[in-house]
Amino acid sequence: MKGLHIFGLSHAYGDNRVLDSIGLMIPAGELVCLLGPSGCGKSTLLRLSAGLEKVQQGTIVIDGVTVATPELHVNPEDRHVGLMFQDYALFPHLSIAENVSFGLLGMDADKARARTMDMLDQVGMTKRADSYPHMLSGGQQQRVALARALAPEPNLLLLDEPFSGLDTSMRQTIREETLGVLKNSGVATLMVTHDPEEAMFMADRIKIIGSNGRILQAGRPHEIYYHPNHEFVARLFGVMNRFEGVVINGRVETPLGPVATDLADGVAVQVLVRPEGVILESGGGVAAEIISNHLLGHDNIARVRIGGVSGKELYVRVHRTFEVELKKSITVSLDHEYAFVFPIEGEGQTRPSIATQTAAAEYRAEVAE
Ligand SMILES: Nc1ncnc2c1ncn2[C@@H]1O[C@H](COP(=O)(O)OP(=O)(O)OP(=O)(O)O)[C@@H](O)[C@H]1O
Ligand SMILES: [Mg+2]
Repeated sequence: MKGLHIFGLSHAYGDNRVLDSIGLMIPAGELVCLLGPSGCGKSTLLRLSAGLEKVQQGTIVIDGVTVATPELHVNPEDRHVGLMFQDYALFPHLSIAENVSFGLLGMDADKARARTMDMLDQVGMTKRADSYPHMLSGGQQQRVALARALAPEPNLLLLDEPFSGLDTSMRQTIREETLGVLKNSGVATLMVTHDPEEAMFMADRIKIIGSNGRILQAGRPHEIYYHPNHEFVARLFGVMNRFEGVVINGRVETPLGPVATDLADGVAVQVLVRPEGVILESGGGVAAEIISNHLLGHDNIARVRIGGVSGKELYVRVHRTFEVELKKSITVSLDHEYAFVFPIEGEGQTRPSIATQTAAAEYRAEVAE
C-alpha cells in the first residue's frame, strides 16, 4: 500500500511511557490529524515516523517498505519523508529558491530549477524566489517551508503544528491553500494540531490520543463531532451541559426529557449536551429564563435557567434568527443529535471524572491561547 502504515507502536523515555500500542494507516492522498493533550506523544510519533527516533516496539511501513522495527532503522534521508515544523526552520543564509531546491541535490540542475519554480508557483511565491527568509512574513515563510517539504516529492509528509505561529485570519487562508497544495500532490500527510477545529477543517480522518498515549477515538470529522465515544472527545469542542442519571429501560431521564442509550440498566451515567443541542423555543418545551447572552460573531452563547430561581443553568448556542432578551420566559428542548451518554467513571462516584474534565479544560485553554 502507498502511504504510511504503523502497527503496535509503543514508546517510552525512561519510565515515561508516551505512546501505547498506536496503529495508524494513511493511504496516499489522505490527511490524518493527530489531536491530543500536550505531552501525549504526538511529536514523538512524527519523529519515529521520520526516523529521528529509534523504534522500541512496533513497525513503521512507508509505501510498502518496512522502515522501522526494533531491529531495523532506515535512516531519515532514505525514507523520502517531508517534514515541516512550527518554526518552519528555513535556512537563513539561503535564498527562497535555494531553500526549496535544498532537497533536490542529485537532480539535474535544469530539472531542479524547474521543479523549484513549479513549487514556488503552487504556493504563490514565485516573485520572492531571490528574497531571503528574514524578508518574508510568517505566512510567506510557511508557504516556502511547504514548498521545500514537497519539492522532492516525498512519500509521506509530516507536519507538526504547522499553523500555530500564524495569526487567526492568516491561519484560515493558509490552511485552505495548504490543503489545496497537498491534495494536488497526492502525498500521504500526518499532521499534528492542538486545535480541534483545525483538525475538523483539514483532516480526512482524525486520531485522538489521550494523555495515556493511547488512541481514544479515530474517525472522520463528522463521527468525532457527532458520535464521540469518550467523554474527553466530546468535551474537546468546548463547553458542554451535563446531567446525571441512571439507565432505566435503555434510557436516562434528564430535565429536558429522556435520552436513549445502549448502556446497561442500572449504570450511573452522565449526559453531555452540546450548547447547540439545547433548542430555544417560544412554547412546547421546558420553561426557562434567559440569564445572559454573549455574541460570538457568527452566533451567540446564552445561559438559560430551567426549574425556577435555584434551577439548573444551561449553555445554549443561539443563532441570529432568535431574538435574545434577558429575563425573557421561553422554553427549551433537546436536539438528541448533540446529546451523548457516558458512564460516570469510578465506583460510587457521583461527579464526572475530575481528571478527564480537567484534561479537556486545559486542552481547550491551550487551544484558546
Ligand atoms: N528526547 C526526549 N527525552 C526525554 N523525554 C522526552 C523526549 N522527547 C519528549 N519527551 C517527553 O515525552 C513526552 C511526549 O513528548 P512529545 O513532544 O511527543 O509530546 P507532544 O504530544 O508533541 O506535546 P506538545 O503538544 O506539547 O507538543 C513529554 O512528556 C516529553 O517531555
Ligand atoms: Mg509536540
